[in-house]
Amino acid sequence: MTDTSPGSPTSGHGFETHAYDVVVIGAGGAGLRAAVAAHDAGARVAIVCKSLLGKAHTVMAEGGIAAAMGNVYPDDNWQVHFRDTMRGGKMLNNWRMAQLHAQEAPKRVLELEEWGALFDRTTDGLISQRDFGGHRYARLAHVGDRTGLEMIRTLQQRVVELGIDVYMECTVTDLLRDGDQVSGAFAYWRESGRFLVFQTPTVVLATGGIGKSYQVTSNSWEYTGDGHALALRTGASLINMEFVQFHPTGMVWPPSVRGILVTESVCGDGGVLRNSEGKRFMFDNIPEFFRAETADNEEEADRWYDDKRNNRRPPELLPRDEVARAINSEIKAGRGSPHGGVFLDIASRRDAAFIRRRLPSMYHQFKELADVDITAEPMEVGPTCHYVMGGVEVDADTGASTVEGLYAAGEVAGGMHGSNRLGGNSLSDLLVFGRRAGLNAAYYAGRMGSARPAVSDQAVKAAAEHALAPFTDEGGENPYTIQKDLQDLMQRLVGIIRKKEELEESLTELQSLNRRAENLTVEGHRQYNPGWHLALDLPNMLRVSECIARAALVREESRGGHTRDDFPKPSEEWGTLNLVLTESGGEISIKEQPLPVMPGELRQLFEEK
Ligand code: FUM
Repeated sequence: MTDTSPGSPTSGHGFETHAYDVVVIGAGGAGLRAAVAAHDAGARVAIVCKSLLGKAHTVMAEGGIAAAMGNVYPDDNWQVHFRDTMRGGKMLNNWRMAQLHAQEAPKRVLELEEWGALFDRTTDGLISQRDFGGHRYARLAHVGDRTGLEMIRTLQQRVVELGIDVYMECTVTDLLRDGDQVSGAFAYWRESGRFLVFQTPTVVLATGGIGKSYQVTSNSWEYTGDGHALALRTGASLINMEFVQFHPTGMVWPPSVRGILVTESVCGDGGVLRNSEGKRFMFDNIPEFFRAETADNEEEADRWYDDKRNNRRPPELLPRDEVARAINSEIKAGRGSPHGGVFLDIASRRDAAFIRRRLPSMYHQFKELADVDITAEPMEVGPTCHYVMGGVEVDADTGASTVEGLYAAGEVAGGMHGSNRLGGNSLSDLLVFGRRAGLNAAYYAGRMGSARPAVSDQAVKAAAEHALAPFTDEGGENPYTIQKDLQDLMQRLVGIIRKKEELEESLTELQSLNRRAENLTVEGHRQYNPGWHLALDLPNMLRVSECIARAALVREESRGGHTRDDFPKPSEEWGTLNLVLTESGGEISIKEQPLPVMPGELRQLFEEK
């Protein structure tokens, strides 16, 4: 008989096999926080991550964790944070998620501090909070410009202290089901290529985003939409996939580092954007929706840094979608910088000591990678694919997907950010919803007792065949060529500005890439073979790209991270609808679904000033 007591390795299905109550896939902020919560609720937990522990896109949220702690502005509270988040998302957010997020974020930050995170301080000794786009008050708790890194360091340490099992450099290729219920996960060790099976009644997806489907991105190699694709294949639904965030300021030079993030904190701390004519062009790009609160002249914008109560905010601190579109237009109009970006200047506005203290990573990043001293000259920056607002459709309170036993948290989950995420809201999202998903997965497993769903030998055999398929096809294409073509097509046809004909063309091109990908060939054997790893990731990238393009074609309006050249305005009708994607028989279907109705007491907040 197979030993299925939690954590014990066996070779129950012919492969190394482990049994747990909760398996968390992904070791960024959401995954680590989920694992800690599940452990604290008494579950036996494993974290499975494709990369090394500590290497996650969470570290790219540099500027801070948004939380209405009121340390700098006592007027701040969860209601204002909720309202900012909903307005930033152009009201398409799941209101309940936005409410829980705003209410719980301060507690999650304090808890992180208790666990050892070393935040910057105000002169009164409180956790310091900085300004970011779309937030009415300075509310980003931060550690210089390395906040995500500090969050990962703290959570990682906690995971190690609690003795949670971590499977590093281990990629999950399939989720296993017993009827309609999750029963496990199939994975391989990247180093040896050997397979392993996790028997578990619950899986928490915390796999992050999809950025590697684009040519210019702040995401690193891991972000191939694995969780999105696993969820779809397991029967769960995705929402809001048309909304992709292009962070306005990525590095544009040199080409080897193109897309690397330049934190929004540069603007929050006084940096301004200029075109090749030296003009601060954001003044010409203030949308009606934000006019009342945005300064329309240099004098007032600059006064804001000293007196935030009596002046309107600089236009560089508009939500990211607005700033990215404006930069894109300047470049297209021929007013870009020499390497195809615009200028971000903090050197002429703040002294060198201030810049080095507040933005140490940016200082080193530009000095070492581009030979630019940001205390003495402007940076060249441009939009970079940073985040996907779309993801697994989840229950706001529990993180449960529409499949029994499957949970999702962080970037892979949809709904929280609507059509556009405010900077800083990602780190707080990871903490709030990572904890909720971990807890609820543990409760679910606990309720189940010993009546666990079964992992069938047949399902394991099918998963192993699926993983080995790239070795069995001969004379097919190299996965790197298809990945490059995919990135090129997504950048060209499904980028910041979209139109009907181009989206249709993208779907035709995607079809042809899918056909080519059916016949992939990899050379060599299973021991550390990056070509094979990519061959397994590529179908996920193609799947999420198709979801993005399909949803972008259907949504005939412009809103947040989805701009249609042919429908340049938001539409009232679309403002009440989500697009939901599901997969069946290998085909994607898409349907419109009304947004959950916001209760009156929350709606009222939008009538107040
Ligand atoms: O600009 C930044 O520091 C990124 C933050 C975020 O994406 O939340």
